Amino acid sequence: MNWIEETSSDDKAVIDEIKSQGKLPKHIAVIMDGNGRWANEQGFTRTKGHLEGIESVRDIVKASVQIDLKHLTLYAFSIENWKRPASEVSILMKLLETYLKKEFKEINENNIRLNAIGRLNSLPTSVNKLLHKITNHTKNNSGLTLTLALSYSGRWDIVRAVQMLSLDVRRGKLSPEDISDELFSKYLQTSNMPDPDLLIRTSGEMRLSNFMLWEMAYSEIYITEKYWPSFRRDDFFQAILNFQRRERRFGMTSAQISKEKNSSSYFQRVVNAINI
Ligand code: FPP
Repeated sequence: MNWIEETSSDDKAVIDEIKSQGKLPKHIAVIMDGNGRWANEQGFTRTKGHLEGIESVRDIVKASVQIDLKHLTLYAFSIENWKRPASEVSILMKLLETYLKKEFKEINENNIRLNAIGRLNSLPTSVNKLLHKITNHTKNNSGLTLTLALSYSGRWDIVRAVQMLSLDVRRGKLSPEDISDELFSKYLQTSNMPDPDLLIRTSGEMRLSNFMLWEMAYSEIYITEKYWPSFRRDDFFQAILNFQRRERRFGMTSAQISKEKNSSSYFQRVVNAINI
């Protein structure tokens, strides 16, 4: 099934609006929160909340393809989530495995490259194997890169990067003076993607929860009260339109931004930011 051909006329109108703004984020990261509270409020089990959360994942991935987004990263399971009751962890792993098995064909048909970050060897072997199989099979796809953060935490990745950097210094491949922002980023698991332009967090919580701490230095943050299972494509499009109305100053003043808009350095920054 080709999702672009499936775009409804209502969606086409908002997608055209988004595209006409000309500031499409390159990378959107999402903290999917509130499955449990959604279920609790409806009188359902937490499992039902996660199941409905998967429907939101499907819808947002599809919408991302339809707007021609380059990178979508979903925080699906943090290292801290291992502290949840074993029964819930086991259900989440089973749901993830079912999602991957079921969606594999459509992911590939829609030119999506699946990527995974996190301490993947702590996932159940069957999930880890499946992830390797799909990431390998889709590695040459050129549309959306869908990254699942699984058994991931921002601090864990930073510490891991520091360990690898230190080894390279010890082996004489690098000297401490060579270490810069840019070089450090290359040691993170996210080195093959741009920093997120926009972070969406559902369920009204105002925190980063150990997600892409280094990469989010200049991300715009959009928080909605909606729980993840109720967050669907219209909400996603509204978040993007809201992002497009913002002025990103990267530490400069508003006046500098306006002045620079006509200059080549501003043009270069925009080119870098939107990768044209
Ligand atoms: C947050 O809700 C959600 C999670 C910890 C898991 C997210 C997982 C899914 C949506 C399903 C599997 C993922 C993929 C990518 C197929 P919560 O349980 O923290 O809700 P609460 O804070 O209201 O209790």
